[in-house]
Amino acid sequence: MNGGFSKSEQLRIAQPLLDWFRRTRRDLPWRRTYDPYHVWISEIMLQQTQMDRGVAYFLRWIERFADVRAVAAAEEQEILKYWEGLGYYARARNLHKAAKVMVLEYGGKVPCEYEQLLRLPGIGPYTAAAVASVAGNYDVPVIDANVTRVYARLFDIGEPVKERPVQKRLAEIAENLLPRGQARAYNQALMDLGGLVCTPKNPSCSQCPIAAACAALALGTVTERPVIGPGKRSITIHKVAGIIGFNKKIYIQQRQADDVWGGLWEFPGGQVEEGKADDRLAAAILQDTGLVVVPVEFITRVMHQYTHHKIILDCFWCRLTGDNCQPVLHSACDYRWIDPLELGRFAFPAGPRKLLKFLTTRQPALFDGHF
Ligand code: ADE
Repeated sequence: MNGGFSKSEQLRIAQPLLDWFRRTRRDLPWRRTYDPYHVWISEIMLQQTQMDRGVAYFLRWIERFADVRAVAAAEEQEILKYWEGLGYYARARNLHKAAKVMVLEYGGKVPCEYEQLLRLPGIGPYTAAAVASVAGNYDVPVIDANVTRVYARLFDIGEPVKERPVQKRLAEIAENLLPRGQARAYNQALMDLGGLVCTPKNPSCSQCPIAAACAALALGTVTERPVIGPGKRSITIHKVAGIIGFNKKIYIQQRQADDVWGGLWEFPGGQVEEGKADDRLAAAILQDTGLVVVPVEFITRVMHQYTHHKIILDCFWCRLTGDNCQPVLHSACDYRWIDPLELGRFAFPAGPRKLLKFLTTRQPALFDGHF
């Protein structure tokens, strides 16, 4: 026996998974060489990101930043621009910081040992385990949402998976089942199985290489596993933003480094009570920037959901009154008056990006009328 599993039980799960992975594994770009730099970038990108989208961003990233040194040497603005659209921008800022540490302490290489990885910015237990096992083939189990779902079904775990005792049990299962010396293939097989076969909705149990070992399948509880438990309630935030036109330029400002969208650019405005958007906009812009504006036309409402927040952003054209175009910044750290054609050079959060997409695709002539 090994930690509660007999050798034959381990083989009943690990061997079919390894065989299945060998036969069907997805041809993902970082799987061609398992270069630790490629594996690290892919793991950070794939957190909170669908695989197809992750692959597209990965390829664009690698084309621009060939190695750790290229990341470390880049300006944060460019890093954020290449991350634009993936969200959770702290990941990009930490990746930049970690690259600088890797240049100073690891000769510009990504370390593959779990403990070393864990000390780097933006690398927690999941990412350290994934890079150590996938890039270094070290015997470290990974547990992400996909793996959790696979094990919760395989062992028919009926308690909420976020609870500590269940987390502990999952860690024991993962440790015990990991076939030594094959962590790279085994961990990726589990992640692929969770992503492609043992999916949250409509799992393809008939295609599953370990269906014979699955307790939830035998008991008819597959759709009830994993048990998630009560979720956090979503909070709705109403915001208002103005596109201020002046001398054929528009005003953008950069958020300070210490918030979720730190380093990204935005249109000025603020948070408002529901239904008070246009009354409050001029006052919010005055308070935030010292610029005196009048809202002249409603453009559109854009909505964006992230983690537990729903943001409703009402957007208006604004005209600068008077000649003072020199702001006094309160919440922002930098600003520009730019030609609309230059907008593509700056990274914006999802809300303003949706607004820009609306303006350029739905009403391209709008820009012309407001200068
Ligand atoms: N999701 C995150 N990392 C992955 C990997 N290496 N293989 C499959 N899915 C993943």
